[in-house]
Amino acid sequence: MRILSINGSPNKVGNTAKLLREITKDHAGVDLDHFDLNDLRIKDCQACYFCKKNQTCAIKDDMQPLYRKIREADALVLGSPVYFGVETAITRAFIDRLYALLSFGDGPGKYVPKIKGDKLAISFVSCGNAKGKEVYANIKDRQLAMWASLGFKDARTFVIDNATSQGNVLELVDAQSMIQECKGLLDRP
Ligand SMILES: Cc1cc2nc3c(=O)[nH]c(=O)nc-3n(C[C@H](O)[C@H](O)[C@H](O)COP(=O)(O)O)c2cc1C
Repeated sequence: MRILSINGSPNKVGNTAKLLREITKDHAGVDLDHFDLNDLRIKDCQACYFCKKNQTCAIKDDMQPLYRKIREADALVLGSPVYFGVETAITRAFIDRLYALLSFGDGPGKYVPKIKGDKLAISFVSCGNAKGKEVYANIKDRQLAMWASLGFKDARTFVIDNATSQGNVLELVDAQSMIQECKGLLDRP
């Protein structure tokens, strides 16, 4: 099993980092790669559509090794804080660049995933709002639809609310239950 862990928070010891670490640690026989998006150079999608005529993206930046890692991974785990109602800007840039993993399909607005195989995607956002699960349900739904359209065979998305800047996330019941669910998915044969 190859797991690709991606932190969309600028904070390497914050809530997102803690959740990613708990989800991805202690799996037997796992090859784990971890990236902090904040350390990478990821330019915004330039809408050049090069990726629709070619296998990959025209922009030669740090997304290129990530495309390779995504292709090789059995499971991708992406976490981001919520900033002003959406994922962080660097997470948004990463997500937009995943457009290179889609080909045009049969008709307007139709796409065919380039990703092959039986891949699992797990993504979550953590947020301070005590009602984040309701307020940011749109993020959970949007990310779930995104993984499906990108060709991930299985996907789970979560919103962990009540996560403060003091880094309390591992004390939250919802966070612990997400960690257990995700660990179970990653341990599947
Ligand atoms: C710039 C900024 C904007 C934020 N905006 C929101 C927000 O719109 N809604 C929310 O619930 N929490 C918001 N938060 C709180 C964070 O999403 C929350 O504390 C998160 O768990 C931090 O994750 P981290 O420790 O991995 O960075 C914001 C925090 C920052 C720094």
